[in-house]
Amino acid sequence: MRLADWQDRYLLQATWTKNLRNYILAQVGARAEDSILDVGCGTGALFGDYEQRHLSATGMDVDFQRCEWAASNSAQTRVVNGNAFSLPFAADSFKLTACHYLLLWLKNPELAIKEMRRVTSPGGWVIAFAEPDYEARIDHPDIFRQIGRFQNHSLEFQGVNLSTGRQLGAIFHQSALESVRIGLLAGQWMEPNTETFSAEWDMIAYDLGGMVPIAEILELKQKAEKAWLSGLGTVFIPTFYAYGQVPSNL
Ligand SMILES: C[S@@+](CC[C@H](N)C(=O)[O-])C[C@H]1O[C@@H](n2cnc3c(N)ncnc32)[C@H](O)[C@@H]1O
Repeated sequence: MRLADWQDRYLLQATWTKNLRNYILAQVGARAEDSILDVGCGTGALFGDYEQRHLSATGMDVDFQRCEWAASNSAQTRVVNGNAFSLPFAADSFKLTACHYLLLWLKNPELAIKEMRRVTSPGGWVIAFAEPDYEARIDHPDIFRQIGRFQNHSLEFQGVNLSTGRQLGAIFHQSALESVRIGLLAGQWMEPNTETFSAEWDMIAYDLGGMVPIAEILELKQKAEKAWLSGLGTVFIPTFYAYGQVPSNL
């Protein structure tokens, strides 16, 4: 997939979690000028939010091309190429350290959270804004169940841990963080329309590509779109969030 398509995917995901991110940033008392590290920032889909809030943001990603893209999209956010398992920052460097749809891609999410805790200053917060649990997905009726099964196979093949969402609580509680809060992104569905169907279908089609013949993907699309636009479809992927505070030095 081209980088521009990844950017579209990340921007779409960011719209789903916008209210949740506002809620969490309010809960942790984020204020203008606070420093925030966005680990696994991708193409910088969240940078606009940080700028609006006047946060002093740094994005970091292991993928150099995504870093370049993110840097070229924002004059205000510093972008660093690095690995979540060994963050290239000194201890206590940031007031807030966050990730968004990152941990599901990692073999060792515990280590990433441990690193995020290390670089967060005492009294600061470590935040996982959104981590889905594909294993617990709800797809209805059959056409969506079939697509859901294909998508999960594909994501697993790409290296995703399908049950990261449900593990988030344990990961945070075992990371020596205080005041840990865990929750779920709520769902609300507007009138089904072609625009939202198409945007989400593009993501699904990418996941299905290589696993399902093109002709079958097109057939699935036709059936799914018809069911979706008639209001018959329910697709829900429980998406967890967590945040916890680094203990203050007394
Ligand atoms: C699903 S994308 C999410 C991007 C961004 N957080 C967003 O929500 O738009 C996951 C990102 O994590 C990055 N990533 C994967 N493994 C990583 C690692 N070990 N260290 C840092 N970034 C990593 C990928 O390169 C990718 O950009």
